[in-house]
Amino acid sequence: MPLPSRFANLRLPAVAAPMFLVSGPELVIATCKAGMIGTFPALNQRTSEGYAEWLSEIKSALGPEDAAYGVNLIVHNTNTRLMADIAITVEHKVPLVITSLGAVKDVVDAVHSYGGVVFHDIINARHAQKAMEAGVDGLILVSAGAGGHAGTQHPFALLNEIRSFFKGTVLLSGAMSTGQDVAAALMAGADLAYMGTRFIATNEARADAAYKQMLIDTTARDITYTDAISGINANFLTPSLIQNGLDPAAAKDPKHKIDMAHELNSEAKAWKTIWSAGQGVGSIHEVLPVAGLVARLKGEFAAAADGFMAKRANFSL
Ligand SMILES: Cc1cc2nc3c(=O)[nH]c(=O)nc-3n(C[C@H](O)[C@H](O)[C@H](O)COP(=O)(O)O)c2cc1C
Repeated sequence: MPLPSRFANLRLPAVAAPMFLVSGPELVIATCKAGMIGTFPALNQRTSEGYAEWLSEIKSALGPEDAAYGVNLIVHNTNTRLMADIAITVEHKVPLVITSLGAVKDVVDAVHSYGGVVFHDIINARHAQKAMEAGVDGLILVSAGAGGHAGTQHPFALLNEIRSFFKGTVLLSGAMSTGQDVAAALMAGADLAYMGTRFIATNEARADAAYKQMLIDTTARDITYTDAISGINANFLTPSLIQNGLDPAAAKDPKHKIDMAHELNSEAKAWKTIWSAGQGVGSIHEVLPVAGLVARLKGEFAAAADGFMAKRANFSL
């Protein structure tokens, strides 16, 4: 599937995924200027007015040569700001809207009314079918090992299943940290790679220095998959659970429910204290400025593509 025309000037086929409490205008602007799609969750601003201010800031910083930016809207009845945030999104003609939890035709139609594009994140074929019925332009396949609310399916299994019935743009997400991973996502059938955790370890991410350091110090074995923090399964850095007095084994035990969000009075407080990351942490070794990270990703992507062509030449197909 060709990419929507809005993404014609991408210099790397990848998106820096929206991350609760982590992505703000600095990260979005630096990412778009480096040639990748930059995004943030609207809820990272406390109010709809604040959300509108961030959009103005991003729009005034970006020029026509920069990559498009996007926002993430949580489409769920607990999001009391949704209608106000949609009105602001339409007013600002946000190029890309990433919907999570609910895929709703009215939201898709509102974004299409000004020529915007809607991608929806899914963890299985059932969610993908529903999103397709709502008319989304693209699906973000959140596979096993991803940061945030991750799925449990292997990326190949998810990609092949969804590709068999969905003809729109497909994004692959989960544990991608290098340009070689981006190339592999495309080779496997995705149109764009969708990277979260790797972008927490950048200067522009709004994460504590200790959180960034923990990404460097940990590997895939230090990730705990649990629904104890927010009621939906997500991946968290095990040392951050321990740091907060939580037993990682108990967090995985469905009989031993810890409701951190309840204990801390809000989900925001829980995510501020318990740090989420995907299994890709094992290949994060330093905090970089976004421009440096994306330059490195581009180099790795090109080397992987060349390497593949060299390997292919060994076979008469
Ligand atoms: C700290 C953190 C916060 C996240 N917050 C959100 C969010 O608010 N909305 C959303 O759609 N996805 C969120 N995600 C998921 C990412 O958008 C993306 O799907 C995921 O990070 C990709 O996997 P990776 O981290 O292994 O690269 C979050 C992920 C992380 C690590």
